[in-house]
Amino acid sequence: MKITIIGTGYVGLVTGACFAEVGHNVICVDNDVQKVRVLQSGGIPNYEPGLEEIVQKNVDEGRLRFTESTQDGVENSDVIFIAVPTPPQPDGSVDLSFIEKVAREIASYMKCYKIVVDKSTVPVKTGEKVAETLRRYTKTNVDCDVVSNPEFLREGFAVEDFLRPERIVIGVFSQRPVKAMKEIYAPFNAPIIVTDINSAELIKHAANSFLAMKISYINAISVICESTGADVIEVANGIGMDSRIGRRFLDAGIGFGGSCFPKDLSAFIKISEEIGYDFRLLKEVRRINAEQMDRFIKKITDTLWVLKGKTIGVLGLAFKQNTDDVRMSPAIELCKRLQKTGTKLRVHDPKAMEKARAVLTNVTYVEDMNNVAEGCDALVIATEWEIFKKLDLERARKSMTHPIMFDGRNLFDPEEMEKLGWIYKSVGRK
Ligand code: UGA
Repeated sequence: MKITIIGTGYVGLVTGACFAEVGHNVICVDNDVQKVRVLQSGGIPNYEPGLEEIVQKNVDEGRLRFTESTQDGVENSDVIFIAVPTPPQPDGSVDLSFIEKVAREIASYMKCYKIVVDKSTVPVKTGEKVAETLRRYTKTNVDCDVVSNPEFLREGFAVEDFLRPERIVIGVFSQRPVKAMKEIYAPFNAPIIVTDINSAELIKHAANSFLAMKISYINAISVICESTGADVIEVANGIGMDSRIGRRFLDAGIGFGGSCFPKDLSAFIKISEEIGYDFRLLKEVRRINAEQMDRFIKKITDTLWVLKGKTIGVLGLAFKQNTDDVRMSPAIELCKRLQKTGTKLRVHDPKAMEKARAVLTNVTYVEDMNNVAEGCDALVIATEWEIFKKLDLERARKSMTHPIMFDGRNLFDPEEMEKLGWIYKSVGRK
């Protein structure tokens, strides 16, 4: 299949590289010329495990190339995927201007039948607008089909998720594009759900909101655990073994962040409001998430008493492990809130330091995680990086004014930590 992907962000680049990996011919288009040059010279703009290798391999084998020309992409492919950003607006609604702009560009270059697939996360009924836009701006009256094909990729595991999907969702207006879409996804051996376009768009928002709800649910349970002496991990394990519930996304912590859950929740609440439904359940999910951070800050303040002038070491800046993405990162929010109290910060992240420097200033960036604790009054774990479990705890303990750890991601065992001489406070555990 000849495929074009418009947008080489977190989703677009993974999509393009993985389609090439299974044998399709792929053109990735981006209007950021600088980024295209980086990609053409073998660079990768975002850290994503496994991505660089498959991009390199498929470029070398001639199945993947990059261009800034939408015309080139449209004219030289049969199926065009839109994977551009849909950023949030101040009122929670989604800015669809990039989608509209790309749809108009595709229309202007379309000389024969094309399938136009939306992969960006969009409000329900966007597909109808895209189809209308394509019809309105085609110069030659050529026919096309619009498809919704939401993505379910987790940053940090995106290549793995793309190559081994649990399901593929294809939303269509008619059966005409289904054969080609199935052909594109055949190599992935996953169940394919073919549905109407509005349902496909809703599946995406409903899935992300549900996962966010699961996290807020376990975070709410963590509050009950703390007041009753129960252990949230035991509770999560106990309920998670019920296959109707499932263990995944039941890790309590300082709340969810990133460029998807917070934005998609707000968008879904807004969409519901517009059609006359007050989605109070999701508003509560959002509130619990915000309160989880408040409670963690309070835990730090209650323990350390005066924060002004104290030094805290923070491990983790990315919004989650395995990524360099700091957008809407709870770790960054935590740092900023601590800074407001007059606390000095020594921070480290295995991959996100470069991106963090743009949004978090007046802190000391420490290259080696084992040096962060040096001279600190407390250590905070803010991101669930696996490597933090390998922290040299003895060295950290000895280099601090007093060994106090606030573990916002429950990476360590409370009893072990106590035995090692730490004052250890985590989330939802004794
Ligand atoms: C999320 C979804 O998981 C993907 O399926 C979806 O495709 C993607 O959004 C998207 O819409 O593009 P992502 O934002 O990359 O993926 O990251 P997640 O792994 O879902 O984590 C989101 C946040 O929840 C992180 O801050 C993480 O630390 C937090 N989290 C996750 C918890 O606090 N507890 C958990 O049990 C799981």
